[in-house]
Amino acid sequence: MKVLVATQKPFAPVAVQGIKEILAAEGHEVLMLEKYAGQSDLEAAVADVEAMIIRSDKVTAEVIAAAPKLKIVVRAGAGYDNVDLAAATAAGVVVMNTPGQNANAVAELAVAMMIFMARTQFTPATGSEVAGKTIGIQAYGNVGRLVGQKAAALGMKVRALDPFLSAEQISAAGAEPVTSLEELYAGSDYLSIHIPATPQTVGSIGYELITRMPKGATLINTARKEVIDEAGLEKALEDRPDLKYAADVAPDNIAAMQEKFGLRVFATPKKMGAQTSEANINAGLAAARQIAAFFKTGDRRFQVNK
Ligand code: 3PG
Repeated sequence: MKVLVATQKPFAPVAVQGIKEILAAEGHEVLMLEKYAGQSDLEAAVADVEAMIIRSDKVTAEVIAAAPKLKIVVRAGAGYDNVDLAAATAAGVVVMNTPGQNANAVAELAVAMMIFMARTQFTPATGSEVAGKTIGIQAYGNVGRLVGQKAAALGMKVRALDPFLSAEQISAAGAEPVTSLEELYAGSDYLSIHIPATPQTVGSIGYELITRMPKGATLINTARKEVIDEAGLEKALEDRPDLKYAADVAPDNIAAMQEKFGLRVFATPKKMGAQTSEANINAGLAAARQIAAFFKTGDRRFQVNK
């Protein structure tokens, strides 16, 4: 089978090598499309392929229509909001993710951003320490739990809320459960967001929630920029000069925000949470193995469009 690795943000070379080895060992041919300029390049590259490995690359209905032989798309990573699931399902294309494989990289970035903001972006201005502070974790999945563990090791109090976990499950996984988002935001010196972008979550974090945060609090978003109501965030930062925001990746209104709020706002220029060679190897090789297993035995374990 022909497998296209389409990555606008390429994997580390060591991960690409591993992907090629796994797939070649099963008799598959690997085609590479890295740092491509636009969707038309992607649409042209899929014409003859049976499988794709992607990152945040956009697999739209147009891409699926341009790939008549396509059987499977594996998103090497957690969030699959970049894939048109309805179009894939209608075309009989299996979509998978590789849950947990890049979680540690994202969690380390969230913790790093927390300390970076506590130390006023490493400027000489007086900062603060995170030990003894409370972190609230919005969604206690693979990334959220790792953030919780690392924060606990830093001496922080860890609280969490997850719509898919009971209070008992959250306690058993090491955090103090809270019963509502309002309570989570109101009690968090640092609030780390780990929800996916879905029709229910897009734009769901805005002025009302953000302004519940206590004095001097910082909101950290290593999930998706789309979950933030950017106008609400901007107004919250205007009305509450004590609040801060750090994000991977930049909101659309970043230029205005940085001009208005200076060191109170930080954003990575390109999403980099999962951009470590370890995460690239974990997620990339998992994707290759999932494709190999799918074609060999029909294994659909990580399918997300069923
Ligand atoms: C994910 O959903 O796994 C992360 O956001 C990583 O995205 P990336 O592969 O584009 O870095």
